[in-house]
Order: sequence, then structure tokens, then C-alpha cells
Amino acid sequence: MENLQGKTAVVTGGASGIGRASALALAQRGVNLVVADIDEAGALAVAHEITQAGGQAVGVKCDVGQDRAFEELKALVLARFGGVAIVMNNVGVLTRGLPEQIPLEEWQRILNLNLLSVVRSNLAFLPLLLAQGEGHIVNTASFAGLFTYSFDRAPYAAAKAAIIQISEGLALYLRPKGIGVTVLCPGPVKTNIMSTLRSFGPPTDTRGPGAMFRLMEADEVGEQVVEAIVSNRFMLPTDEAVRELLVRRARDWDGFIEEQIVNPQIIVPAAKLT
Ligand SMILES: NC(=O)c1ccc[n+]([C@@H]2O[C@H](COP(=O)([O-])OP(=O)(O)OC[C@H]3O[C@@H](n4cnc5c(N)ncnc54)[C@H](O)[C@@H]3O)[C@@H](O)[C@H]2O)c1
Repeated sequence: MENLQGKTAVVTGGASGIGRASALALAQRGVNLVVADIDEAGALAVAHEITQAGGQAVGVKCDVGQDRAFEELKALVLARFGGVAIVMNNVGVLTRGLPEQIPLEEWQRILNLNLLSVVRSNLAFLPLLLAQGEGHIVNTASFAGLFTYSFDRAPYAAAKAAIIQISEGLALYLRPKGIGVTVLCPGPVKTNIMSTLRSFGPPTDTRGPGAMFRLMEADEVGEQVVEAIVSNRFMLPTDEAVRELLVRRARDWDGFIEEQIVNPQIIVPAAKLT
């Protein structure tokens, strides 16, 4: 979608971090924004920031875990802006614990918020985008969905891997119909995501994707998202170095696993968490 001026975007999880940065970056290109978040005050604050800068935006309380959430968002965006071109499904929450200790209810919560939210979004917004034959979907996944670097975040990683698969299918289906799809796979980004982390069982070493990946600012990612929409790019890792790592895994999957067992990328030792 080369010209963003005057288009409308819905961004979920838009009150903070990557969602907020993407909403602000889109608004700078003249996009009207619906900033949706469970944090109503945060969503209103981001919308206010946009309108103060001369843009068009509304903030709305929205819990993407609720079945009606995206139908309500659709009704709101149509009433306020008369259409929608860009849908960014960006909500993600973390959980931590050993595989034998994360309860089923926590699996259900994480899959509901991180994965089924994307399904709800598709059910609500796809008919609209298909009817207009134009639009762009951005689904936020993670490095955690591209490869496994820790064993204590399985529900999160599983949801993110599924988002990548769904997005790839959507790209096959929608590209020929004039609708772009981007799957955003961030590496480490400075946001508030750790503040909502739930933890089960004893502390475990916190592992990261690798020392070569620097902690990025959310604003940098917001700019990358805009660029991906404009250039109709599917795979958007925040750091291109991840491609090499994926090639290494594809060449020798067993070796890749062994490497991480022998030389894990520990960011915070468990001893420091107790
Ligand atoms: N920060 C990172 O290092 C990183 C890395 C990889 C992927 N991601 C992904 O990026 C996305 C954005 O995360 P972030 O890092 O900006 O985190 P963040 O916590 O700063 O922002 C997430 C936003 O989602 C909102 N939210 C949470 N539950 C919600 C719900 N049920 N309904 C609506 N809104 C809800 C929060 O209120 C918050 O504003 C997530 O999908 C996350 O998994 C982040």
C-alpha cells in the first residue's frame, strides 16, 4: 500500500510499546487511527498524542480475549472513519514456567489472548477487506515463534509460531486479492511486556535469542512496520541477523538444539530472580 495518507488503521495493544510506536508512526504518514487496548487510559492517551500533533485518532477500551471485541471494533471504526485499510493484531502477553508446571488454564489464557485474538480479528475484518479488494494486515509474532531459545515460555512460543503459520496462509490467500500481509517478528524490544508476566514454579534462567540481537527501541520497530506496509513485505524480523540463525538451524536442526543446551544464552540467571 504505497500511499497511506487518509487511510484508517486499527491497532490492538496500541497503548504501549510496539503498538503505540506503530500507531504514532502511521499517524505521522497521515493515517487515521483507532487505538484499541485493554488499558483504556493508555489508549486514550495515545489517541490524544496523535490528535495533538494534528492527526485523527480515537482511543477505545478493548479486550481482544472477548469474542465480540473485534465486531465492536469494526462497528466503531466504520462509524468514526467510514472504513478500514490496515489492521494490526499486536496484543501479546507472556507467561513463564516449566512445561510440567504451567496449568492448563494458563495455556488457555495465553492462547486465547495471543492467538485466538488473531482469529477473531480475521472473522470480523477479512470480509470487509475482501469486499474492498484493498488493505493490509500486520500480525505481531516474535523471534520466539521463529525458533526456540527457551523452554519455559511454551504457550507464548506456540501462539507466536501459530501466528506465523496463519499469516503465511493469509499471504497466499490474500495477496492475489490485493490485500497485503506482514508478520512482524520482533527480537528484544524495550517495552512494558515484562510488567504483565505471570510466573509458575521455581525460577528458571531467563534465556534470550542471542547476544547478537540488541535491545531495540519501540520507535524503531514502528518505523519498520510502516515501511513493511508501504513496500508490501511479508516477513519482518526486527533484526535481519535472525535469517542466518534460521539457515543454520535448517542445515542442522539437531546441532542447533545441542548448541543451545551446551551454550545457552542466559540473560538473567535464576539465582538473581530468587
Ligand atoms: N518487547 C519485546 O521484546 C517483544 C519481542 C517479541 C514480540 N513482542 C510482541 O510485540 C507485541 C507488543 O508487545 P510489547 O512488547 O509492545 O508489550 P507492551 O506490554 O508494552 O504492550 C502490549 C499492549 O497490549 C495490551 N494488552 C494486553 N492484554 C490485552 C487485551 N486482552 N486486550 C487488549 N489489549 C491488551 C497492553 O495493555 C499493552 O498496552 C506483543 O505481541 C509481543 O508478544 C514483543
